Order: sequence, then structure tokens, then C-alpha cells
Amino acid sequence: MTGYQYTLKHLLTRQYHWLVTGVAGFIGSNLLEALLKLNQKVTGLDNFSTGHSHNLGQVKEAVGEAAWSNFSFIEGDICELETCRQACNGVEYVLHQAALGSVPRSIQDPIRTNDSNISGFLNLLVAARDAPVQRFIYAASSSTYGDHPGLPKVESVIGRPLSPYAVTKYVNELYAEVFGRCYDVESVGLRYFNVFGPRQDPDGAYAAVIPRWIAALVRNQSVFINGDGETSRDFCYIENVVQANLLAALAENREAVNQIYNVALNERTSLNQLYGMIRDLLLDKFPDLVNHKPQYVDFREGDVRHSQADISKARGMLGFEPTHRIDQGLEQAMEWYLSHLEPEKEKPGKTA
Ligand SMILES: NC(=O)c1ccc[n+]([C@@H]2O[C@H](COP(=O)([O-])OP(=O)(O)OC[C@H]3O[C@@H](n4cnc5c(N)ncnc54)[C@H](O)[C@@H]3O)[C@@H](O)[C@H]2O)c1
Repeated sequence: MTGYQYTLKHLLTRQYHWLVTGVAGFIGSNLLEALLKLNQKVTGLDNFSTGHSHNLGQVKEAVGEAAWSNFSFIEGDICELETCRQACNGVEYVLHQAALGSVPRSIQDPIRTNDSNISGFLNLLVAARDAPVQRFIYAASSSTYGDHPGLPKVESVIGRPLSPYAVTKYVNELYAEVFGRCYDVESVGLRYFNVFGPRQDPDGAYAAVIPRWIAALVRNQSVFINGDGETSRDFCYIENVVQANLLAALAENREAVNQIYNVALNERTSLNQLYGMIRDLLLDKFPDLVNHKPQYVDFREGDVRHSQADISKARGMLGFEPTHRIDQGLEQAMEWYLSHLEPEKEKPGKTA
């Protein structure tokens, strides 16, 4: 039995109380679904700044009424300390996902990003300390590697941040470490690398590349590739992220706690390869895509050129073993997008 299988079995026999922040977002709603399916009790907190109530509706449908009754939702902002205190009440494990994601958004609006990602993070950490909760697991980011060219990325070697977003995610790690030292708060930071999967928002100015391209191809729109397409990422399917969170929360090895871990596959896929994979998966249903070509535009400010994680630390300390490679993840995600994508949004001034 793998460490993860053992963890899942344990959870089925013992109900804990979890707080998932950012629960109406992509990663938060997937964590919620996994926890409720394991008969766990969950409090969720979200202010719907980028999340959607329909994500919660889909989780309810997926888990059924009985499991859904183990969920209570607080609509609120982590920038309010009292809201964080209310959310941490009686909680054993925190999975903190609430933040304003996206490098370009942070370049556009560093103050709002700082409010949620640093002040909000600190509020939640203080509330978790005072509750007290048993462990605080939080979403860190591969953006912390910044301008360091080394590959694959090893947790202990980082460069200078390339965006306000990257600054906020690094500050999270510093606060978590200091709270361990000053107040014995147990924490684990998970540096996610380009996560994708069901419920990741395909629309809006700051949509991530995979849902954006799937939506564009299905709607027969242009796909824009920033730069020459040889920029590469370690794309990580959501199931692997759920696994890392559960393993981090329940890790019994004391050495594994108050640490940072990469969460990815240790693989590298270029944007050109990714485009080809997505298009190929759609060809059966949309044969005209055989003639579709991407359009190449400028490189994007604040982007790193290549990214690939060394995951040996998570493997060794947490027993992390990704269950889904990129192609398996894309297939599963595609099924979801094909049944949930809304038709093309009307453009202003466009007549029917
Ligand atoms: N998706 C990725 O590839 C990726 C990569 C690295 C790190 N992360 C981190 O993972 C976490 C989740 O990301 P996601 O992709 O699910 O994004 P998302 O935008 O889908 O989810 C974030 C959720 O947090 C909520 N939120 C934001 N600010 C809040 C606030 N002040 N108070 C309460 N709720 C607030 C939003 O409404 C949203 O529901 C974030 O911390 C993000 O920085 C994501």
C-alpha cells in the first residue's frame, strides 16, 4: 500500500474538521470535493473575488446530500481578522488556498494582490495559531524560483522574484517559517507548479493557459502563444495537488513538518507541445481543428522561461507519488470542459 492509499484509508475511518480557504476557486473546490467524499467535516471560506458559487454547486452534485451536510460555508474575506478567527473555530487542519493568483494581475494591481496574499495570509496564520489548529498547509508557488536559471528546481535554491505575485508567495513562506520558530505553529508550504484540471476558470483576462486554450479551440477562436512557444512548464494535474495536501496535513514524521515542498511531476512540456496535445485531444469531436494554427505574440512580462520541479523532497519526506501524468490529466480535464464549457460570450456590439 502506498503512503497515500494509507492516508485515504485512515481518513475513511476518522473524521477531522478542515478549513479550506478559497473553497469556491479551482483548487479549493477540488480539495473540498475530495474531503467530503472521504466523509470529512469541512468549513469553507471565500469572498468570490475570483471563485464562483457554481463551483460549490458542482461539488454538491458530485458528493450528494449526505456528504454535503458535513460542509459549512462562510462568505467572507481573509483580510478581516475576525472572519479568519470565526473560520478557524474548532478546526484541526487548514488548507489555505485563498489568494489572488496570476502574475499579470499582480503587475497590474500589486496593492490588491498584497492585501489578499500577504495581509490576508498573516490574518489566517494568526487565527490558526490562536485557535489553535493542528497544522496549517498553504499554497505556495513555483514563482518563488524567480530568476534562478537552475533546473530542475530544488526547494533550497531560489532566485529574485520576477513579479509582485512572486514576492507575496515568498513572504508567505517566510511568515510560516517564523511562526514555527516563534509560536510553534506547524505548517507545510506546497509550491504548486502550473496546476490544471476541472473547474479551472477558462474565462477572464487572467485565465491560465490550459483552460484558456481549450475554450478557444472549442469555440473556434484564436490561440495566442506568448513568445516562440518553447517556454516550458511542469504542468501538474489537480489530483496530484489534492494528494500533496492530504499527505502534508497528516504526515506523522516530525521532520516533514515546517518545510516547503515542490508539487509537480518533474517533467517539462513546452507551450508548443501543450498546444499540440490539447488540439489532438479535440480532433475527434472537432475535425476542422486539423487546420488550426496558433498565433505567436510577444513574451509576457514577469514570466520565467523554463520551469521543472525536483520532487524528490516531497517523495522522500511525504511519500508523494503523482498518480496522473500530464496526458492523463489533460484527458480527464477535457471531459469536464467538454461537458461544462459555456458557449462563446457575446462581444459588445455583436448582433445575433
Ligand atoms: N493554479 C495554479 O497553477 C497555482 C500555482 C501556484 C500557486 N497557486 C495558488 O493556489 C491557490 C489557489 O489557486 P487557484 O488556481 O485555485 O485560484 P482561484 O482563483 O480559482 O481560487 C482562489 C480562491 O480564493 C478566493 N479568494 C481570493 N482572495 C480572497 C480573500 N481575500 N478572501 C477570501 N477568499 C479569497 C477566490 O474568490 C477564489 O475562490 C492560490 O493561493 C494560488 O496562488 C495556484
